[in-house]
Amino acid sequence: MKRQVDFLVIGTGIAGLSYALKVADHGRVLIVSKTSVNETATWYAQGGIAAVMYNPDTYNKHIHDTLVAGSFLNNEEIVRITITESTERVKELIEWGAHFDKESSGRYALAREGGHSEFRVLHHQDRTGSEIQRALTEKVIRHPNIEILENHFTIDLITQHHLGKIVRRTHGDIQCFGAYVLNPENGAIETVLAKTTMIATGGAGNVYQTTTNPTIATGDGIAMFYRAKGIVDNMEFIQFHPTSLYNQREKPSFLITEALRGAGAILKDHKGKEFMQKYDKRGSLAPRDIVARAIDNEMKLSGMEHVYLDARHIHEREILDHFPGIHAKCLSIGLNIMKEMIPVVPAAHYICGGIKTDANGRTSIHHLYASGEVASTGLHGANRLASNSLLEALVFSHRASADTIARHSEISFMENIPDWNAEGTVLNEEMILITQSRKELQSIMSNYVGIVRSNLRLERAAQRLEILYQETEALYDKSVISVELCELRNMINVAYLIIKFASQRKESIGLHYSIDYPSRENQNHPKE
Ligand code: FAD
Ligand code: SIN
Repeated sequence: MKRQVDFLVIGTGIAGLSYALKVADHGRVLIVSKTSVNETATWYAQGGIAAVMYNPDTYNKHIHDTLVAGSFLNNEEIVRITITESTERVKELIEWGAHFDKESSGRYALAREGGHSEFRVLHHQDRTGSEIQRALTEKVIRHPNIEILENHFTIDLITQHHLGKIVRRTHGDIQCFGAYVLNPENGAIETVLAKTTMIATGGAGNVYQTTTNPTIATGDGIAMFYRAKGIVDNMEFIQFHPTSLYNQREKPSFLITEALRGAGAILKDHKGKEFMQKYDKRGSLAPRDIVARAIDNEMKLSGMEHVYLDARHIHEREILDHFPGIHAKCLSIGLNIMKEMIPVVPAAHYICGGIKTDANGRTSIHHLYASGEVASTGLHGANRLASNSLLEALVFSHRASADTIARHSEISFMENIPDWNAEGTVLNEEMILITQSRKELQSIMSNYVGIVRSNLRLERAAQRLEILYQETEALYDKSVISVELCELRNMINVAYLIIKFASQRKESIGLHYSIDYPSRENQNHPKE
């Protein structure tokens, strides 16, 4: 089955929906979500969205904080673009119907998170993401030019590689003509032809055992782009959020927002003693890489499986007004955060790298854009400043939409695209093979490619991953296609890239910390 649309958008988070809303006035849009429209990382965002709103904050201060957090490995032009466009983009989001908390004066109430020198994080209690997602989804659903295809899984991008000898109209340049999309309910694979395609598939946290990311985050966009021979970047920089709720029975891990530390909560060890000052003078509000490594070290020293976050001294009213979600969640497992310390542990949270894009969201493949967590714009450098990612998605989806609209009339549909080739697929694979390989992958990544790395660990990871890769490709070649198998294959692709980039970086910087190389930025890093 074939269908043609002007704009194909893969992903229904902040990046996909905000782009779709802007291009929809210029043609027909199809948006694909692999589950339901609101099951996105965007929905789960807690702390908020960073933007320069009032004095004494300035663009230069926010730029400086972003560069410091990123160990100056950021692309400075991209940082300047993102921050100087922050106010305008957030105002637009408000016009679209998103509500952020206000003070009694009518000004927006701004929070502060790790690495920020000013209060600049707009938020909606501790449920900012679901409020943004609500506003965007409502607006998208009302747009007559937009169709949303839920529970459909994008398998691969369509490029010249799928055309064989039929058409080769470029000389070495790769072009995207749309994507192959699986309907898991009936096994049908649709050929979706589009003049322009936007990848907004979010992150890849599920390559690790413990993650704050929803189960949809399996790195599909990065993997399909890499298979299409596109250029990826910065894959070694995986951000571990220092404080997810320690609750072994729960997957994904529930996040305890950094804003709680911004409001005064303090990290403590099992004896109830503060420990962050040993590692960084900014204490519990040091940038995430430093805090996550410090917690990792404290856990190794004590042999315990978590540390604590103490919010008991924060006023009851403040907890109930600003952190009702965390309060309710902890109560649901029998923990009253006003009386007891919260057990917390770091969890894979965000991938700073991904599909390399330029200032307009263009990728190395023609007619293909990327935005949101899947993209590597250069904003984050070696470490993302808290609450900069929702902002990044808004800014680059906006820029990509303007670029798309400007070029739209020059692009025509590609004819002669073959349907998905299902020849040779005879096996209905056994699910146990897939689930076991997925667990093995997550164990390799968590044990050898986590918060603290070494050359030996990376070598081991690469060797073990190679076995999983060979087994999975063999299975894929013979099997009737399924979402689980595609996700496993994608996660192995992404893990391979993380290991490859990590092995190539011969230094410790930002989120890539190796015991084999001294850190050039912070001499207080924990030693193993
Ligand atoms: P997502 O919102 O993750 O959307 C991805 C979409 O792609 C989904 O619709 C999914 O179905 C679709 N998709 C994926 N693969 C396929 C496929 N193969 N086929 C079809 N569809 C597919 N950032 C901040 O700035 N501030 C915060 O306070 C904050 N808090 C966070 C809290 C949590 C718990 C988490 C997990 C993240 C948080 N982040 C925060 C990060 C931020 O939420 C994400 O980086 C951002 O929302 C990503 O948006 P996105 O649009 O790129 O992707
Ligand atoms: C948080 O609320 O701590 C998460 C913020 C982010 O990931 O940017």
